[in-house]
Amino acid sequence: MEDIKMIKQRFEIIGNDVRLERAIEKALLAAPTEFSVLITGESGVGKEVFPRIIHAYSRRKHAQYIAVNCGAIPEGTIDSELFGHERGSFTGALSERKGYFEESDGGTIFLDEVGELPSATQSKLLRVLEAGEFIRVGSSKVQKTNVRVIAATNVDLPAAVGRGRFREDLYYRLSTMPIQVPPLREREGDVSLLFRKFATDVAERYRMPAVKLTEEATIVLESYRWPGNVRQLKNVTEQLSVLEQDRNVSAATLRGYLPQDTNLLPMVSHSPEEERGFSNEREILYKILFDMKQDMNDLKRLVLDLMQKKGEEQPEYSSVLFRDLHDTHHSPADFIRANGGRGHKVDHDAPIEDTEEVVEESFLIEEKEKELIVRALEKNHGRRRRAANDLGISERTLYRKIKEYNIDDE
Ligand SMILES: Nc1ncnc2c1ncn2[C@@H]1O[C@H](COP(=O)(O)OP(=O)(O)O)[C@@H](O)[C@H]1O
Ligand SMILES: [Mg+2]
Repeated sequence: MEDIKMIKQRFEIIGNDVRLERAIEKALLAAPTEFSVLITGESGVGKEVFPRIIHAYSRRKHAQYIAVNCGAIPEGTIDSELFGHERGSFTGALSERKGYFEESDGGTIFLDEVGELPSATQSKLLRVLEAGEFIRVGSSKVQKTNVRVIAATNVDLPAAVGRGRFREDLYYRLSTMPIQVPPLREREGDVSLLFRKFATDVAERYRMPAVKLTEEATIVLESYRWPGNVRQLKNVTEQLSVLEQDRNVSAATLRGYLPQDTNLLPMVSHSPEEERGFSNEREILYKILFDMKQDMNDLKRLVLDLMQKKGEEQPEYSSVLFRDLHDTHHSPADFIRANGGRGHKVDHDAPIEDTEEVVEESFLIEEKEKELIVRALEKNHGRRRRAANDLGISERTLYRKIKEYNIDDE
């Protein structure tokens, strides 16, 4: 089908696997309808492009498209994010807020990791799907919205239904039109295509020659299980490209990058060939750690200075410094008082002995982390998923950190 080729180009989808093409074709067929679509497939198979295709080829294409990662939003705020809230409906709700379902009226919502929705939210979602009705948190007024829902999940929803974790009626309502994205290990030939694509991308980005696989390495690549699917293949290719000096990658080198366990645990390498692959990386890490230690010592001095100068009068810094303590029930002032101003916490529940170090280190790491997050967000123009990818953390973690550090990423 000519259309499929075009879609692949437009959305930069690589691969000729028939089941992948079938999935694209289904997305195209579903697009002009109003059906709810459920995209299933293991983590990393490339589910996230499908709702974008569907929206782009639907009658709603000029209206809003909102992607929500249900797994990344804390349970306590998800209703308010999805359905909005009234002013004063909970502590901290200083003003009213529109939810995604209100904002995307006339458009499309992509609910990623829909299996993570808490059960109360599942009921509210069902009501939107069936009646187009929702209620803001803290309100009693029923509002109308016309939103098309596309959902994705990598969990076995029927099994979740069986265990009482997911509403059966909601499952059927969401999966009017199911689209399955096949795991990478079942897409013959696509692995090598994807490898070449990712290798060329990195090479262009960093202006260096692309890595190539020896024949034997190609066999290793193609017979590997890829438990993390395309996402894992992309990571491995990028790591190889950056860390390997030799642009011709041997099978032994490649194996060093492929965890052999099915559970994706980081691999412990034993053979000298495999060791070599990591030596550069290790050097870089040592350097970073060394620099951090230096910074930490400087900071330690600064903190002690400040504490001595300001005595018990709760320096402003303390609120930042002590925020991440294990026991948040004590105020910074309590903390300093209890410890004679020395910052050593005498608390039998405290899991870590040297709290002073922990406090300083956590502050420094926070600063660095915040800086990295801000930079990643800027680089990706606020697009959290990409920023999270760059940072190598999950979107859920990124989301939490943005809240925690009060980062303004709009
Ligand atoms: N067929 C493909 N061609 C090119 N890149 C792909 C393909 N499938 C997935 N990717 C890339 O792999 C990564 C993971 O895909 P994503 O859609 O986030 O997976 P998930 O199924 O977990 O949502 C993304 O960077 C995506 O761009
Ligand atoms: Mg995903």
